[in-house]
Amino acid sequence: MFSQIGGARLLTLSAFLLPSTLAAGAWNSSSSVVPGRYLVEFEDSTDATSHIFFSSLSENAIAATPVVTLDYSLFKGASFDLGDVGNEKAHVQKILSLPSVKSIQPVRAYSLSETSGYTVNQGSVLPPAPGPNSLTSTPDTFSPHVMTGVDKLHDEGHFGTGIKVAIVDTGIDYTHPALGGCFGEGCKIGFGKDLVGNDFTGANTPVPGDDPMDCSGHGTHVAGILAADSVAPQFTGVAPNVTVGIYRVFGCSGITTTDVLVQAFMEAYEAGAQVITASLGDASGWSEEPSAVALSRIVEAGVPCTIAAGNDGDIGVFYAEAPATGHGITAVASVDNIVTPVLFKNASWSTENDTTPVPFTWVPFAPANIPNGTYLLHDIVNGSADTFIICNENFTITDDLTGKVALVPLDSGCTSGAGILDMVVAAGTKYVLWYSSRVGTIQSINATTWNTGIESIGMVTDDLGEEWLKMIAAGDPVSVHMITPKYLDYYVVNTPNADSGGYVSHFSSWGPTFEVDVRPQVAAPGGSILSTYPLDLGAYYIDTGTSMATPFVAGAMALILEARGKLDPATIKSILSATATPKLYNDGQSTYSYLAPVAQQGAGLVNVYDAVNAVGVLNISSISFNDTAHFTNYAAFEIQNTGNETVTYTIDYVSTGSVYTLPASGDPMPSEGGDGVALDITTASSATLTLTSDTVTIEAGKSASIGVSATLPNLTASRIPVYGGYVTLNGTNNEYLTLPYMGVASNLYDAVIFDTADNLTYVSRYFSFDAVPSGYAFTLPPQNSTDEEKELYDFPVPVSTDAFGTRVLRLDLAPAYSNSTVNTTEVLGEKIVGSVSAFPAIAQPRGQWHAFWYGDLSDGTFAPPGDYVFLFRALKVFGNESAAEDYETVWSNPFSIIYNTTTTAS
Ligand SMILES: *[C@@H]1O[C@H](CO)[C@@H](O)[C@H](O)[C@H]1NC(C)=O
Ligand SMILES: *[C@@H]1O[C@H](CO)[C@@H](O)[C@H](O)[C@H]1NC(C)=O
Ligand SMILES: *[C@@H]1O[C@H](CO)[C@@H](O)[C@H](O)[C@H]1NC(C)=O
Ligand SMILES: *[C@@H]1O[C@H](CO)[C@@H](O)[C@H](O)[C@H]1NC(C)=O
Ligand SMILES: *[C@@H]1O[C@H](CO)[C@@H](O)[C@H](O)[C@H]1NC(C)=O
Ligand SMILES: *[C@@H]1O[C@H](CO)[C@@H](O)[C@H](O)[C@H]1NC(C)=O
Ligand SMILES: *[C@@H]1O[C@H](CO)[C@@H](O)[C@H](O)[C@H]1NC(C)=O
Ligand SMILES: *[C@@H]1O[C@H](CO)[C@@H](O)[C@H](O)[C@H]1NC(C)=O
Repeated sequence: MFSQIGGARLLTLSAFLLPSTLAAGAWNSSSSVVPGRYLVEFEDSTDATSHIFFSSLSENAIAATPVVTLDYSLFKGASFDLGDVGNEKAHVQKILSLPSVKSIQPVRAYSLSETSGYTVNQGSVLPPAPGPNSLTSTPDTFSPHVMTGVDKLHDEGHFGTGIKVAIVDTGIDYTHPALGGCFGEGCKIGFGKDLVGNDFTGANTPVPGDDPMDCSGHGTHVAGILAADSVAPQFTGVAPNVTVGIYRVFGCSGITTTDVLVQAFMEAYEAGAQVITASLGDASGWSEEPSAVALSRIVEAGVPCTIAAGNDGDIGVFYAEAPATGHGITAVASVDNIVTPVLFKNASWSTENDTTPVPFTWVPFAPANIPNGTYLLHDIVNGSADTFIICNENFTITDDLTGKVALVPLDSGCTSGAGILDMVVAAGTKYVLWYSSRVGTIQSINATTWNTGIESIGMVTDDLGEEWLKMIAAGDPVSVHMITPKYLDYYVVNTPNADSGGYVSHFSSWGPTFEVDVRPQVAAPGGSILSTYPLDLGAYYIDTGTSMATPFVAGAMALILEARGKLDPATIKSILSATATPKLYNDGQSTYSYLAPVAQQGAGLVNVYDAVNAVGVLNISSISFNDTAHFTNYAAFEIQNTGNETVTYTIDYVSTGSVYTLPASGDPMPSEGGDGVALDITTASSATLTLTSDTVTIEAGKSASIGVSATLPNLTASRIPVYGGYVTLNGTNNEYLTLPYMGVASNLYDAVIFDTADNLTYVSRYFSFDAVPSGYAFTLPPQNSTDEEKELYDFPVPVSTDAFGTRVLRLDLAPAYSNSTVNTTEVLGEKIVGSVSAFPAIAQPRGQWHAFWYGDLSDGTFAPPGDYVFLFRALKVFGNESAAEDYETVWSNPFSIIYNTTTTAS
């Protein structure tokens, strides 16, 4: 099995996580390939359908269970499950040799991530109740709209009327009053499908249905950003009058697969969606991922697609995610909201000694059905100053909590949520208030999944929690006077975000692709965004991620289509790009004097008002000067004057900071900072641009062409500097347009992939992460073992941390000694026994990976017992796949294998 750090996933940063729900480390990460499942695409020339294809499989005696049929105009193919056929690879070869089959690839699983630990800059405390309901809908004062000119478009009556936008996500709670209350023809959520069913896990067969209800929350949040109507709390989506389509690709467990994604995109296209948006992705850096290829065809056919850039800003440069890497797709980066909103409900408290009620605010989670009434608070740590006491394995609650509200510390960060809730329920109560410094930044949870006895759970600030604890400790019992949340409106309090408001979010993933394609293209508000949530998860929620920025841009495209009429995807993208506002670099805390690199922000924060009104329209949305070996000596762009007056543009350029991919130490690996890679941005030198003219006068309806050439910045090439900037066009009609450019000031062919300096590519074993000594003897499980049986063995685990991405990653098995008698074939100049199962792997990102090896090879056979080495080979960027010298090569230590013959482990 082959696995890679991180999986494709929804791109929300979920700050809330109790430790028990933390994802396991990379070492234990499950394979991202669904065992036994494959996706085929049919030859364009044949009139193959999935029906004919499956008949031909039966004729060839290949037992395959159909999973998804893809009989679409832009993609004809099918996915199927081979089950436990044994000799799977032989079947795959046979299927590939069928005349109707163009390609076959394993289906990948995309998991809903449980990214933890990221906290947005929050308002320090909840205000005392009752707070002001600070949002009103007319005029539009919703901060993400004010930041981007959407407020002005709303004031002028542009709401996206008549435009169809499809969302590919977890479903939508269409019963939400802000989302129209119904699903189907005539409703706001007007079309779409559930392609998978609640129980879809990625590994089982999807069960499509007609009801795309959301059981996670992500899709409902995304839908509100695009299209919510004003209900309390008052705010709207970017384009509240669009008709929304929803293609549900995640079951409740939050896993989806490539075949289902391709199906969703094709269904959305065939339903006539004019914009398609998906807030999901996976580390890649390459455009070949099948879901990216499928989407590119849709863009080519005239429908713009917005895809989240990713939330891996802490992993550094060259970390573009698929499918946002696909050609023509608009990859969306995130900008932090200028305010941090917190949603809360009111209640009050008093003590036995002082019975005057004091208002307070709390954030309800699910469930939140505390009946109206007065409840004594019970301090479960019993006055202990050490809230970590609940981390002690022997911690218990001995008091009777009947009729009380349990007051529970959250930030001790050690307990399993389930464990504490079990204790609280066993002690007699159904009601919990957590206190935490992270209130307002923590995702709503469904506590019923931990304990079915809980009826109400919510959170207050740690300041308030501690104030109560002091009173209780001083012998003055505290009571809370609660009203069931459903009887109260939410209040929204916006605290200005002085640290990073209006700047590119620190978590937003950096491009470019490994082929120096500009990614991301534009940025939109994505950090701390208020939107709708499923009614039974609280109805509203504040969430963060490029997941939130992406539907915003889809909405912006709908407003442009409404106002300007039909436009091709490239023009929509270039209008949004040219009118976007490049932002200064901000590292999450401080703002610097130079512009954030294009690799981080693309064209910058969209200005939708200016996009709708743009007079000058450029024919491209960015320039890539490529690397030094493929340096673009001259690029040209056209500007068309779509207005009715002559305009003169003054043309110039402005550089951004350049970012080094590698550290100054000479280490070929991006350097680790506190939270991830330390981004080293320099203004020491930047590219100099020469423009063919510095002013141009264009009559109404006419175009002009401008040429651009660059001289490279003087930066340390071995550190792979990524430079960039903006060509600026200042019009006499007061229009200011920018065209982002970027390039890499080194030869990417030289980029180190396997870091031999640090010995990060080697063979280890299942029971230990370290390299095995030369000659290590492995006993492998019998060849017919089950997964459980295999795990009892200390089998070989080839592992590597790749400093750079590669289009072709080979892992071959070669005889250790020249006197070996094992059969070999020569591949790329080396004698090999075969490739390890699931290799070669294509389009790999940088990062750590490992494979569990039980002796199986990719042709379905098992390597005979003997002495071997692993041969790791990675194709260099822009290298020729069939040229041996274009690969970087590492040989592992020799090791020997034998197979156990009984199912009991050695
Ligand atoms: C937007 O939709 C609402 C509700 O359907 C409708 O009343 C309004 O006229 C629409 N606005 C525009 C500009 O079409
Ligand atoms: C009770 O209230 C009085 C007056 O407000 C105060 O002086 C006293 O310290 C309080 N006692 C406790 C136990 O809080
Ligand atoms: C709870 O209190 C609210 C606010 O006073 C009221 O509207 C609601 O009817 C009450 N609910 C019950 C069940 O008494
Ligand atoms: C829990 O209790 C057991 C039995 O008394 C004891 O051996 C153990 O050390 C305790 N654990 C902790 C962390 O105190
Ligand atoms: C950079 O050059 C390579 C090699 O010619 C090419 O494959 C790649 O597409 C170029 N990148 C861009 C962004 O044009
Ligand atoms: C919470 O989880 C329970 C048990 O899994 C489920 O029955 C319920 O529908 C869930 N509630 C929400 C709001 O998702
Ligand atoms: C030119 O455009 C402006 C603004 O769009 C408009 O007010 C004006 O009527 C137009 N003039 C002509 C001659 O079309
Ligand atoms: C490039 O920078 C280095 C180090 O700052 C300097 O020594 C060298 O003269 C510069 N080269 C050019 C052509 O400016």
